[in-house]
This record gives sequence, structure tokens and C-alpha cells, in this order.
Amino acid sequence: MRYIGSKERLLDFIYAFVKEKVEYEEEGTLTFADLFTGTASVSRFFRKKGYKIIANDLLTVCVTWAKAALASSNDITFNKLINSNQIKEQELTSLFQNNQDTVLKHLNALSGIEGFIFNEYSPEGKSKRMYFTGENASKIDAIRTQIENWKTNKLINESEEAILLASLLRATNKVANIAGTYGAFLKEWDKRAFNSIMLESIEVSQNDKLEHKVLQKDVQELAADIKADIVYLDPPYNFRQYGAYYHVLETIAVGDSPVVTGKTGLRPWQTQKSDFCYNDKAAKALNEVISRLNSKHIFLSYNTDGILKHEEIIKILSVKGETDYIDVSFQRYKSNGGGSGEIKVKERLYYVRNK
Ligand SMILES: C[S@@+](CC[C@H](N)C(=O)[O-])C[C@H]1O[C@@H](n2cnc3c(N)ncnc32)[C@H](O)[C@@H]1O
Repeated sequence: MRYIGSKERLLDFIYAFVKEKVEYEEEGTLTFADLFTGTASVSRFFRKKGYKIIANDLLTVCVTWAKAALASSNDITFNKLINSNQIKEQELTSLFQNNQDTVLKHLNALSGIEGFIFNEYSPEGKSKRMYFTGENASKIDAIRTQIENWKTNKLINESEEAILLASLLRATNKVANIAGTYGAFLKEWDKRAFNSIMLESIEVSQNDKLEHKVLQKDVQELAADIKADIVYLDPPYNFRQYGAYYHVLETIAVGDSPVVTGKTGLRPWQTQKSDFCYNDKAAKALNEVISRLNSKHIFLSYNTDGILKHEEIIKILSVKGETDYIDVSFQRYKSNGGGSGEIKVKERLYYVRNK
């Protein structure tokens, strides 16, 4: 998933530093709290390494990704749905098809509905906005409505719903007419937008018998209640508010029909504002979070181009104990349309051991 600040490419690097700082002295199953989980890439990775995960984010779209990433194969059978009369017999025939594939095939074959996404985010709808072709937008409406109906009729459980929504969100992102985020749509069609939206299966981890948790709270409120051996913080590092930059995905994840405004059809997102995105609030926000955390091991990812400067971060972390950090250089997040692709930006990973 393309997502600003995603750590997908830095997972091995983060893991190596965590191992260096933590694993040699801790035994048994450790709890890892990924409190700004975003795409849940870090949560998914550490779960596979055997950690018990607490994932948290302000956005429903991120909570959906986290639920899908932390779901257990035991919960994702789709048995109830398959055994209902919802899926036609001819859709059940393939020998090699698992239940998830069968359900996705059914969703992919639905006819479009001219619903909220069609009306607000396609030029064929009343808004004339160009996020999706009319055909793809009406398919998104049909698939979202079907998932909601199955949930209302208790034919799918929460984990199954998360898997289907995660698949829809991923497919949506692949046909969106945007330069990386939903902050704006492109004035001309990108050829990607003309591909037919297609849900693909989501990898489901085997049942690990650990009770992972997914939360949707502001970290500043949550920090004091977190009971985890390791806390990993990956806050926004610049002005880009995720609630505004991913508003269309958020609406699909929530499944509502909000009153949207402006050129881009922005949903109300004021309750999802992050203090970490403001020059005059970020230091106070980090300070509050760090001072409230009780965990022994605290890690923080931050970009060297970010609002908070290195010395400021070290000062805030030092209140807890001895600090350390390492750097990694990588290519800057780049929009589809531009960027040189050559600029190397340093991502820094900080560590502090709570006294
Ligand atoms: C840099 S991204 C995290 C990326 C993530 N590590 C990944 O690999 O995808 C920051 C995330 O923090 C969330 N966020 C921002 N402020 C928050 C807050 N105060 N409390 C909880 N989540 C917050 C945003 O919604 C966003 O998803």
C-alpha cells in the first residue's frame, strides 16, 4: 500500500535494532505496541516474528488494515456466508479456490450501483470530481454495500469483514486517479484509472493463539494505559494530516455518506486532527506521549526533514533514560507524477530505555 511514511521498506532495519536493544535480555512472548499503525506493516511483521501486538491509529481505514493484518486464520473461514444462499453454486466450483477467493470472485462480479462514491467522486455523478471512472466508482459502491449487508445479516464476522474491506481499499487505491494521496484528484485521467477495479486475496496469518488488540484512540490519551514491553512510535513528521490526505479511503472504510465539501469532496475530519502535524504543537505532543508511557523499551521513527529537530527529540526522550539512535537513508516518498527519485532522506530510529 502506498501511504505516506509507510515503513514497509524499513521492516528489517527496525527489527534488527529492536533485536539489538531488547531481545537479548527479554524472554517469553513480548507485547509490541504499534501506536501509529498506518498500514499496519510494522504490526503484521512483528506478529509474524511471534510478538503479541497492540495496534492503534486515529483513522478507521488504518484500524481496518490492522484488523485484517492481525486476524487469525481460525476466524477467516467465510463458512457461514458460503453456506448461505448468497453465493451462487456456479461460483463454488473451482477445486483450488479457497473460501476467500470465492467470496472475492462474487464481489468482483457484482453490477455497479450509483451510490455515494459514484455521485461524489466520479465525473458521471453529480459532483463531477475525477477520483474514479464512473464504472469503478459504482462498483466500489456495490461492493461496499454488499459487505455492509452481509455484516448486518451476521453472515460475516468482524475479521472477515476487515479482510474484505482491506481488499476493497487496496483495489480502490490501484485505480484512483491521484498522485499518491487523496489530497487532490488529477485533472487528466491517469491510465491506471481505466483498469477495472479487482479485489485480490489478502494473506491471512495462521492462528497464533495470541490475543492481539486493535484500538482507535489519540495516542496522547492512550499512552498512560498501554501495557506493553515494547512501544513503537511512528508519528506524522510534517503538516500532512492523514485524515484529509486519505479522506476517500476513510469514507469507504467507515461506510457512511457524510456531507463533503470543497473541490476535493473532503469529509469532516476535524476530530482526527493530529497535533504532530503542527510546528507549534508537535514537541508538546511527543513530550506528553513519552512522559505517559510506562513501557521499558520505547522506539521512535522520525524523519530528519521533520518538524522536530534531532536535539529536541533527544531532549524529550532523555527524560525517560538513556537514549540511542541509528540512521537509514532511503528514497523520499514520491508522487506518481513527479519527484526526482534521487533525493535520499534520512529516517532515524530512536530508542530510549525507561528507567
Ligand atoms: C507515519 S504514519 C504511520 C505509518 C506506519 N508505520 C506504516 O508503516 O504504515 C502515521 C500514522 O499516525 C496516525 N496518527 C497521527 N496522529 C495520531 C494520534 N495523535 N494518535 C493516533 N494516531 C495518529 C495517522 O493516522 C497515520 O496513520
